[in-house]
Amino acid sequence: MAQQDEVFKKIVSHAKEYGFVFQSSEIYDGLSAVYDYGQNGVELKNNIKRYWWDSMTLLHENIVGIDSAIFMHPTIWKASGHVDAFNDPLIDNRDSKKRYRADVLIEEEIAKIEDKIEKEVAKARKRFGESFDEALYRQTNPRVAEYAAKRDALHERFAQAMNDNNLEELRQIIIDQEIVCPISGTRNWTEVRQFNLMFRTEMGSTADGAMTVYLRPETAQGIFVNYLNVQKTGRMRIPFGIAQIGKAFRNEIVARQFIFRMREFEQMEMQFFVRPGEELKWFATWKEWRLKWHKALGLGDEKYRYHDHEKLAHYANAATDIEFQMPFGFKEVEGIHSRTNFDLSQHEKFSGKNIKYFDPELGESYVPYVIETSIGVDRMFLSVLCSSYEEQKLDNGETRVVLHLPAALAPVKCAVMPLVRKDGLPEKAREIVNDLKFDFSTHYDEKDSIGKRYRRQDAIGTPYCITVDHQTLEDNTVTLRHRDSMEQTRVNVADLHKLIHDNVSLNSLLRKLA
Ligand code: GAP
Repeated sequence: MAQQDEVFKKIVSHAKEYGFVFQSSEIYDGLSAVYDYGQNGVELKNNIKRYWWDSMTLLHENIVGIDSAIFMHPTIWKASGHVDAFNDPLIDNRDSKKRYRADVLIEEEIAKIEDKIEKEVAKARKRFGESFDEALYRQTNPRVAEYAAKRDALHERFAQAMNDNNLEELRQIIIDQEIVCPISGTRNWTEVRQFNLMFRTEMGSTADGAMTVYLRPETAQGIFVNYLNVQKTGRMRIPFGIAQIGKAFRNEIVARQFIFRMREFEQMEMQFFVRPGEELKWFATWKEWRLKWHKALGLGDEKYRYHDHEKLAHYANAATDIEFQMPFGFKEVEGIHSRTNFDLSQHEKFSGKNIKYFDPELGESYVPYVIETSIGVDRMFLSVLCSSYEEQKLDNGETRVVLHLPAALAPVKCAVMPLVRKDGLPEKAREIVNDLKFDFSTHYDEKDSIGKRYRRQDAIGTPYCITVDHQTLEDNTVTLRHRDSMEQTRVNVADLHKLIHDNVSLNSLLRKLA
């Protein structure tokens, strides 16, 4: 675990050093859990968004996009349940005055027990070597069994308390487990209270009677309240979907792990409207399609898993997460939810407007059921960054840091470099840039040795480096260097465009989904 922490720290500092992610307001010592994307970060992020957007709106005739406002009528959040139920259970330590999420404190306690089990297994593996039967050891070792029983009992008690929304019981678990505040080291805890995660602000001047409005905690409600506008103006027929990418805001208390849990983040959400009774069939279909979308990136199929929800939100009849193996464990990147007709029915009730869909095939009106796919742009960014980062030992004993980004997502697709800064090589290199730049994000670099220039491009994940040398002036060929293999091939300048395009275009990724 310590080694993974170390790697994660390196990834975070790499992200800063190479212009991917900066702490927001850094010169004022930063704003917690808020981040800015730098010159390379914004390109990577835009490419992720483009991949998602095109996969939804180009590959599906029946999915269109919208861009709704962040501010919405406050009653929307009453109808959706966010005003009353979008809460985290919080507990304060009286000595350190630090605030924690009660559920997270308990989850960490469970993780500690799991760590103990893993340590026992690792010790045994070392001791028994080749002949070690891990499955048998886990089943039969008394110490492992004792830890596992402890973990299961705690997990059951915790799940029950969360299910019943029993705040006293959550506190009691913290007391019984003798959980201490990591700052003060004491067990001087307050009661557990519910804390609403929505940010509020005021709209209009106070003299006019200002209205409390919220920064949206999800983009989905903007789709729900527009679904009939889109259906009518776009002459959409069920089943159809509406996609949206936009900012969301949550006043997260435990905001950690870099851009994994932020207070301002971005979501890519798609609501798919279906006939009542057909939702579970569509849920299964979207579950499969979304995993395929992730796997097409080639980050490693073994890094994904589904986590089906046992405990469902009151409005859902099925839900699953797609989890990705981050350096700090498998974590949710995307949620796929069968939200029934809850949201639309609530908006019908609270607005007093009829928002039923008339189904011409059935000759009847109904409130559609909804399958939602909801993925965080920033978490997707983090999963791509973490799985691409490698410190590679080279044959000559040197180490290079390389980002094996999927080529279609890379912020810079190719870098053109004159071998030396004279003899007409820079001019020839510029000529090549001026041709490629219309289709690909292209860098020109003439500073430092060629080796250093290659390393700089490796560090930001540029798939191709093109080197112009004296031979180029004679036969119009260049050296094309491949980022991952570091292989160099001699190619004609006239062939560059096709070669690069075939490997870096989004098109090639999208075709894998067809
Ligand atoms: N409309 C459904 C919805 O918002 P969610 O599971 O709360 O569901 C969906 O969020 C996705 O949004 C998550 O899978 C995650 O990728 C992203 N997300 C949620 N909270 C986040 C946060 N505080 N920071 C970064 N991403 C977040």
